[in-house]
Amino acid sequence: MTDPPESAATDPRDWTTAAPQSLTLEASLEQQMIYARDLARAFAELEAKEAQRKRLLDQVISAQEDERRRIAIDIHDEVLQMLGFNLMKIDLIERLWVKGDYAPALEHLGALRDTIESAINLLRDIITELRPPSLDVQGLVPTLDEYLKRFQRETDVEVALTSRIGRRQSSTVETLIYRLVQEALVNTRKHANARHVTVELRAEDDRIAVTVSDDGQGFVVDDALKSSLARGSIGLHSIIERVGLAGGVCEIESAPGDGATIRFSVPTTA
Ligand SMILES: Nc1ncnc2c1ncn2[C@@H]1O[C@H](COP(=O)(O)OP(=O)(O)O)[C@@H](O)[C@H]1O
Ligand SMILES: [Mg+2]
Repeated sequence: MTDPPESAATDPRDWTTAAPQSLTLEASLEQQMIYARDLARAFAELEAKEAQRKRLLDQVISAQEDERRRIAIDIHDEVLQMLGFNLMKIDLIERLWVKGDYAPALEHLGALRDTIESAINLLRDIITELRPPSLDVQGLVPTLDEYLKRFQRETDVEVALTSRIGRRQSSTVETLIYRLVQEALVNTRKHANARHVTVELRAEDDRIAVTVSDDGQGFVVDDALKSSLARGSIGLHSIIERVGLAGGVCEIESAPGDGATIRFSVPTTA
């Protein structure tokens, strides 16, 4: 038997002396399996997130369609009917006038005036709901103030607005905040059974921070987030998503019997 050459000890092809290397190989294989498992887990999480985002997007689109349908119905059933009714009234007034029946003609003219006025008010409501013109002209705070006054009248929930944002923000930021506060208040109206709600706007460096807080019955946030998505309700999710898309942060705090608070802040550059 001849001694192996000196170099054999480090020859990678020599299995008799390769123990340390196979250990390294095993360790690195194990490491790779851990990586692969982490990667698979991360991938599955990403896929689940993507599926949730897609579901949410579908729901946002169908919510938009529902809203359009509702507005179309409002215009069709209310405004169009009123205008059609007015046309008939005009024909009637014309006939009465021609016959010289002035007193009933004048009476119908009065009724005509009233329905035109109602149609104008209704159209104004629909337009305001679509996009309040004052949001562009006067800005977020006066528009929100107007909205909150109407909210208080309609719901009997007492509303307090405090604003420390001073100057106007970009149209994107003002619209976003207006819509998010609206969404939060729709929930207060629908679910909270509250007596008071406060809306607070604050400028913080390069952010606008908003807090909407009610003293209603409260809810379990995690449960609500899970179950609402399952039944196709997107209010809270859409608040979170829209704040996230704008580069902001959102926090929902509530517990049964303890009211509900939504805090979010969005960059002024959003
Ligand atoms: N201010 C609130 N007070 C009490 N419960 C609330 C409030 N906001 C949200 N919730 C609860 O969270 C759920 C999810 O809200 P949301 O996502 O807006 O869907 P939706 O309003 O269509 O039910 C509501 O069904 C309600 O149970
Ligand atoms: Mg809602």
